Amino acid sequence: MRPLSRFRPRVVPLARGRVLEVGIGTGLNLAHYGQGVVRVDGVEPDPHMRRRCRARLESVSVPVQLHAVGAEALPFDADTFDDVVCTFALCTIPDPASALREVHRVLRPGGRLLFAEHVVSKHGLARALQHALDPLWTRLAGGCHLTRCAASLVRDAGFVIEETERWGGWLQLTPVAVGVARRCQQPSGAGASPSGRDTHAAP
Ligand SMILES: C[S@@+](CC[C@H](N)C(=O)[O-])C[C@H]1O[C@@H](n2cnc3c(N)ncnc32)[C@H](O)[C@@H]1O
Repeated sequence: MRPLSRFRPRVVPLARGRVLEVGIGTGLNLAHYGQGVVRVDGVEPDPHMRRRCRARLESVSVPVQLHAVGAEALPFDADTFDDVVCTFALCTIPDPASALREVHRVLRPGGRLLFAEHVVSKHGLARALQHALDPLWTRLAGGCHLTRCAASLVRDAGFVIEETERWGGWLQLTPVAVGVARRCQQPSGAGASPSGRDTHAAP
């Protein structure tokens, strides 16, 4: 995760109010939350990740509650959160379309999804390499996929992307998309690719 750490300060400090973090992992984002955050609910199905995250909680000032669930079925009422943070998790969540529909449901109207994700490349050769490597990579890297398109997944779940930036990464093989998306209309599901695999224009 270390090479990806420089993207955290671009997105996490934007969070405000009651925040949901999807796939919180070991809690590497926690140090980047600002004073405008009143509480973070972190969703993390992996017990090893949760244990490491719990160890980090002593050193952070924001109140954090961890939840041992996957993002595809969130244990929260509709319209609960002001912002949702999701970094480098859409690549790994088995059903990212369902997870984002849940994120849409639990965000208040007008709430924001703040994301940073490594994504499929726009460049033909790099994209072909990502596809070739993906089956092995997924097995070695805990279910992480190289070929997902975060922006398509986010739009298909009913968000409007307001800001987005993109970096090419090493040999264009690990491009990263950072963005702010707002909850607007209901998710249509129309045209959604269930896995988010390389079906739409990047980022
Ligand atoms: C590459 S790690 C990123 C962790 C963290 N977001 C970060 O930026 O350091 C992907 C995380 O997604 C979690 N994950 C896997 N399946 C998930 C699911 N169904 N719902 C939520 N998180 C999930 C993994 O356990 C892991 O902690």
